[in-house]
Amino acid sequence: MKPFLKLDWKAPFGAEIAQCATLHHRFSKKQKYNKDLPDEYTSVPTESLSLSEAFASQAIAIVPAAIRGLEIPQAFLIRMAATDAIKPVLPAHVDYNRTCGINFYLEAGGETTHYYEWDLASRTLHETASFEASQGDCWLIDTSIPHSVSLKPNQQRLILTLSFTKASFAQVSACLREAGYV
Ligand SMILES: [Fe+2]
Repeated sequence: MKPFLKLDWKAPFGAEIAQCATLHHRFSKKQKYNKDLPDEYTSVPTESLSLSEAFASQAIAIVPAAIRGLEIPQAFLIRMAATDAIKPVLPAHVDYNRTCGINFYLEAGGETTHYYEWDLASRTLHETASFEASQGDCWLIDTSIPHSVSLKPNQQRLILTLSFTKASFAQVSACLREAGYV
């Protein structure tokens, strides 16, 4: 099974929602997977932004009941700032305290998410799959296995995410198929 799944689902808000969000956390993912990032790449930090209670509950309200039965997800924004570099990248990482997420791409265009297998013996990554999300797309992604994002120079990326901490990618994707979102 691929670690991502394109969904037939539209975001309940547009990118303007970011104006009412507040910076929650800034991650600069230093993990074993990205210790040897080649020099030509510039590592870009990720920010999570909290939504107001009203917007967060509006986002969660669109989730089918079968998924809410598994786990009620958290709704927040993920932003990767525009970076003036030739090869900006969100280096390979696994997400802390997050099994999978339903991502609505509010601002995107041409970035590629890469998935890897971590080879324990050689301590290196081997790419296994990748996908490109366009603005307006919705994808369920497995965040528990190593992934990275090749960003575009000077282009911000903004995602509304419904984030799960317990339900697995397989469980959530089965529910989404059942509910007709695939
Ligand atoms: Fe991630």
